[in-house]
Amino acid sequence: MTQHRIAVIAGDGIGKEVVPEGLRALDAAARKFGIDLRFDEFDFASCDYYAKHGQMMPDDWKDRIGGHDAIFFGAVGWPDTVPDHVSLWGSLLKFRREFDQYVNLRPCRLMPGVPSPLANRKPGDIDFYVVRENTEGEYSSVGGRMYEGTEREIVFQESVFSRKGVDRILKFAFDLAQRRPKKHLTSATKSNGISITMPYWDERVEAMAKSYPDVHWDKFHIDILTAHFVRHPDRFDVVVASNLFGDILSDLGPACTGTIAIAPSANINPERLYPSLFEPVHGSAPDIAGKGIANPIGQIWCGAMMLEHLGYAEAGAAVLAAIEKVLAAGPGHAPLTPDMGGKASTQDLGKAIADAL
Ligand code: NAD
Ligand code: IPM
Ligand code: MN
Repeated sequence: MTQHRIAVIAGDGIGKEVVPEGLRALDAAARKFGIDLRFDEFDFASCDYYAKHGQMMPDDWKDRIGGHDAIFFGAVGWPDTVPDHVSLWGSLLKFRREFDQYVNLRPCRLMPGVPSPLANRKPGDIDFYVVRENTEGEYSSVGGRMYEGTEREIVFQESVFSRKGVDRILKFAFDLAQRRPKKHLTSATKSNGISITMPYWDERVEAMAKSYPDVHWDKFHIDILTAHFVRHPDRFDVVVASNLFGDILSDLGPACTGTIAIAPSANINPERLYPSLFEPVHGSAPDIAGKGIANPIGQIWCGAMMLEHLGYAEAGAAVLAAIEKVLAAGPGHAPLTPDMGGKASTQDLGKAIADAL
């Protein structure tokens, strides 16, 4: 049996509470499907590590996790002790860039038994993917601060869109759309206001679409697109977006499905030159950390995506089916955490899903 080495990084806050539930589900799936997973836990990429060492990760972090088959990640950030840009650029954003995880795949699905804040929406009505560019765009390190502390002070940060970077994320998104029954792709743009990079993005979308004659596609400026997410979430299938727009859409989409806490994400290096990283969309949630009430579903669903990535599609589907089965009992019956309107603990819900497997 092939052994798969998984680097486990819980990070900060509720990362430390939801990761064990993700591992519980992965253990159950591994037993059921005869998969050999070896978990290696690391304490770096956390603000606790920063407090001890003055940096987020050891200098040899890449050697220590670069040879793993995947990274199972919780959340990072503790703004009371470390500024967010320091903790995030010192950990998660480094992984994304240095492991060239240029695809951030974020499914968004209204699950049975979880009430949507949108009126009259039922499971099936919301079921799409946000495909977020993950290594360039608005998240750039090109910029600076000048005339610091004077009235002439200037700060600027450039957006960077490379042809290679744009084309490869568009190709991933069109390929995905082509495999979906609806074969529909929406591009997020803002080419009316952002007059250099976004018209370029549109141009590349149009060029890429020519290779996918069977995929119907459209584009919306990001402002009205957020409105359509709320008013007509049923019309979306695959939504491709730049780094920042994708970040925003991938919180808004899951919010329309009842809670951001169920949403997973896969930070993928499709060429498999580096490990891909699986983490929930949500953060470390300092407001509820330590209370044992964080919703573990985003983390558990990440486990499903990781299994699929490792070649175990059936096991991944079983984890997702277990989540759906537990939720389907509905409010009053399912062990729902407070963000879904229930009173269950992180562990109650995690155990119920592992048992359902
Ligand atoms: P957040 O996602 O941590 O929390 C936003 C809100 O959602 C909070 O009210 C929180 O309680 C709730 N929430 C989040 N996850 C939940 C869960 N699993 N169950 C129940 N409720 C949940 O976003 P934030 O408050 O903007 O950020 C907090 C910290 O996390 C910051 O340091 C931020 O930079 C960091 N962050 C990290 C990641 C990541 O590691 N991928 C993602 C987002 C934010
Ligand atoms: C996410 C997060 C990160 C991002 C932050 C924490 C840097 O919000 O994974 O969505 O903006 O990419
Ligand atoms: Mn985000």
